[in-house]
Amino acid sequence: MAISVIGLVVEKFDRKILDDISLELNSNRTIGLVGPSGSGKTTLIRALVGSQRIKSGKVKIFGLEPGSEKLRSRIGYMAQKSALYSDLTVRENLDYFAAIFGASKRRVGEILDLLHLGEHNKKIAGSLSGGETSRLSLGIALLGDPDLFFLDEPTVGLDPILRAELWKVFRNLKEIGKTLVITSHLMDEAERCDDIILMRNGKVIFHGSLESLRIRTNCSEVEEAFIKLASGGI
Ligand SMILES: Nc1ncnc2c1ncn2[C@@H]1O[C@H](COP(=O)(O)OP(=O)(O)OP(=O)(O)O)[C@@H](O)[C@H]1O
Ligand SMILES: [Mg+2]
Repeated sequence: MAISVIGLVVEKFDRKILDDISLELNSNRTIGLVGPSGSGKTTLIRALVGSQRIKSGKVKIFGLEPGSEKLRSRIGYMAQKSALYSDLTVRENLDYFAAIFGASKRRVGEILDLLHLGEHNKKIAGSLSGGETSRLSLGIALLGDPDLFFLDEPTVGLDPILRAELWKVFRNLKEIGKTLVITSHLMDEAERCDDIILMRNGKVIFHGSLESLRIRTNCSEVEEAFIKLASGGI
């Protein structure tokens, strides 16, 4: 198992942002973490990478504490708020993080091609559009060779063609044995994943395969299933 979460609670100003979450996530899956804005997706990802103070509960990643040194090279994290050097160019950002992760120049070139960033090579990161910034952040998360990816809204604001290409990239990563946790507030993106976690108001209201969501709710679309689950119709 890649990820185990038991009774996770995160509070901000006495409000439960994550409300007693328990999850077991297997390796070698694409896992779609979806829910409306403010439902707690980013907070959950932050708890999984070890950058979120938790009130109670237990989180283990490959049996280890989140954020532990041994996990560093095994995890690729793309934060929703970009963690780029805004005064460096696209290429310089990639080269810098490649040096940290021990990735080769060739790998930097591959990432530039893969994410169509070549033409923006010399642009200062601070001048990129939202979609370009998220592609660069994603590129950085893909640089090393981690086993487990946490991608927080990687396709937001992208051209549908590029979005489809990125999903191909995610599927290819899964094919070679990687595990991906991908957040989106677009319910239909979850349909591209093996497993779905639906969140609402800090709670997980469903976790399982797309097929099992369809059977449980008798809905063919995730959005419809979400409404049914959220309204207590099941
Ligand atoms: N530092 C903070 N202080 C107070 N409240 C916070 C803080 N960080 C997050 N929250 C609140 O926690 C809730 C969950 O936020 P979170 O960012 O996890 O949601 P999300 O599902 O990722 O939303 P989005 O789809 O908009 O990215 C929101 O109501 C948010 O306002
Ligand atoms: Mg978020």
